[in-house]
Amino acid sequence: MIILGIESSCDETAVAIVEDGKTLHSNIISSQIEIHKQFGGVVPEIASRKHIEAICPAVYDALKEAKLNFSDIDLIGATRGPGLIGALLVGLSYGKALSFSLNLPFVGVNHMLGHICANYITHKDLKPPFVCLLVSGGHSYLIEVKDYADYIIHGRTRDDAAGEAFDKVARTMGIGYPGGPVVDRLAKKGKDNLDFPRVWLEDDSYDFSFSGLKTAVLNYLNSKNQKGEEIIIEDVCASFQAAVNEVLTEKAFRLADELNLDTITISGGVSANEGLREMMENRAKICGKEIYYPEKILCTDNAAMIASAAYFQYLKYGADKYSIKADPNLSL
Ligand code: KG4
Ligand code: ZN
Repeated sequence: MIILGIESSCDETAVAIVEDGKTLHSNIISSQIEIHKQFGGVVPEIASRKHIEAICPAVYDALKEAKLNFSDIDLIGATRGPGLIGALLVGLSYGKALSFSLNLPFVGVNHMLGHICANYITHKDLKPPFVCLLVSGGHSYLIEVKDYADYIIHGRTRDDAAGEAFDKVARTMGIGYPGGPVVDRLAKKGKDNLDFPRVWLEDDSYDFSFSGLKTAVLNYLNSKNQKGEEIIIEDVCASFQAAVNEVLTEKAFRLADELNLDTITISGGVSANEGLREMMENRAKICGKEIYYPEKILCTDNAAMIASAAYFQYLKYGADKYSIKADPNLSL
């Protein structure tokens, strides 16, 4: 089955063609990061307008790169939430219209299920069940993936998502947007020598909380500035990143132990983090578990993961009606 996936929930207009949920034929990502950078974050109105401009060329580029025609497509999937409502509406409406005009089934996809499925494209041998640590700019989840479109959420963030914490800390230091990749790069040159808090919450909780850590970093920077003392940005990045990653790693492994599962996947934008990948891999070696993460281009937003999720969702639940709506707060 050949699936055309469309993603427009935030600041990337993406279209991809995937076969049977795992084989990638093309992956077009038209990023708006350069435009939003000057504002320090995504401006929703600008995002919607740019999606409208980019969507048609992205669809044609995806077909061209895959060397396929519209007549080769069997299923269309588009993100329906969570995300920015105006941005979601562009991809969802385009997807529905394309499916109607080509007389093809249509599936409205949960963006977060898409992130889980990104790993199936990079690792064709990966099969549920496994634990997925899903860490993006808007959400953090610890999930038991029971089957391709069947999962239980064991933990979620109570305040800032992991990626959001990276972005906010980076913004305060004025080192760039999005913050994750910059912090990741600078952390490699720094030392984890500052004592930032690890927030574990209740003993048995799989939830996360990163706003206290964010505030601790801000307080540290303010106090250094007030005293006129030197701030070593690289050390702040290394220490902040270690604090985030330690909590993520510890909770993911604890859940895997509790569920008796030997496979842990990470996905979402923060799964691109080199420090997190290394920490998870080191821990996995010690306790005999396996870690999977997507290739970097599939960690952050893309439509290949949406096409993959559309396929598994279609196999389990069939097509959606055109009355399906965009939902900015759609939960997993
Ligand atoms: O999954 P994603 O592209 O969008 C959402 O669905 O939110 O994630 C974007 C988030 C941003 O917060 C960005 O700073 C973070 O992922 N990110 C990273 C890295 N690359 C992207 N965080 C830490 N380290 C990275 N290398
Ligand atoms: Zn995302």
